[in-house]
Amino acid sequence: MQYTKNNLKTNANNLEVSYTDEGPDKSPSIIFIHGFPLNKKMWKNQVDALKETYRVITYDIRGHGNTNNGGDTYSIDLFVNDLIGLMDALNMQKTVLCGLSMGGYIALKAFENYPHRFDALILSDTNCTADLPETVANRMRSIQHIETGTVGRYADESLRKFFTSDSFIDNKAIVESVRDIIIETSKLSLCKTLHALAERKETCSKLKEIKVPVLILVGSEDQITPPEAAQLMHEKIKGSTLHIIENASHLSNLEKPDEFNIQLKKFLSSINPK
Ligand code: MLT
Repeated sequence: MQYTKNNLKTNANNLEVSYTDEGPDKSPSIIFIHGFPLNKKMWKNQVDALKETYRVITYDIRGHGNTNNGGDTYSIDLFVNDLIGLMDALNMQKTVLCGLSMGGYIALKAFENYPHRFDALILSDTNCTADLPETVANRMRSIQHIETGTVGRYADESLRKFFTSDSFIDNKAIVESVRDIIIETSKLSLCKTLHALAERKETCSKLKEIKVPVLILVGSEDQITPPEAAQLMHEKIKGSTLHIIENASHLSNLEKPDEFNIQLKKFLSSINPK
């Protein structure tokens, strides 16, 4: 059966999670986890590229997009439990995970906590380290700015770090579309997620335990999670593949979708997820 389901809702970990589920249901599956402060819409191009061949799922993390806030204090472990709850709700014993940035932090923690649930990982523009003290201080400053300012202002500050300067001239539509996504996020969710990011623990010390295929992608101009961070993960994950996407910044899947998708397809067809 071919699924073409958008904006579905299911209960996972006592939360109403909004997700999409497309592609042939008997084929290998892949779940995409978005970055902060975006939502599942950021994966549209990848869904379209894969849905003929794979069962492709995207979802909104707690407090983002159309998934409700949940009321709890946020943490990466809570986000992992939401992901596992979603997989259980969808009767998925195993899957491939693809996470960008915060999505990658969640993917790495999910693998650490539930290694038997994942066939392979795609880690895009992410890292395994905890925040440095200055990054934590920046996040606390952002929380104050958000509380006293507007989400629009926070979106504009974020966009400068998400794209290369070329995209602000040659690809205004994609920059605008990400701004539209960011401003869907409430101030409360932004602040709660910034706390979760600041408090997250490193996962680098566990990378040697990853025994499934791993693809690491990073934009050559990514300043939030730079190529050096990708290289470090590559060195620690035996047998992993690293591909640097030239002239892309942090949101490499949006800035260079064709190259991103070629790497994704090449990797997926090289593995044989059950
Ligand atoms: C993201 O894209 O998810 C964020 O840039 C992650 C972060 O701020 O560490």
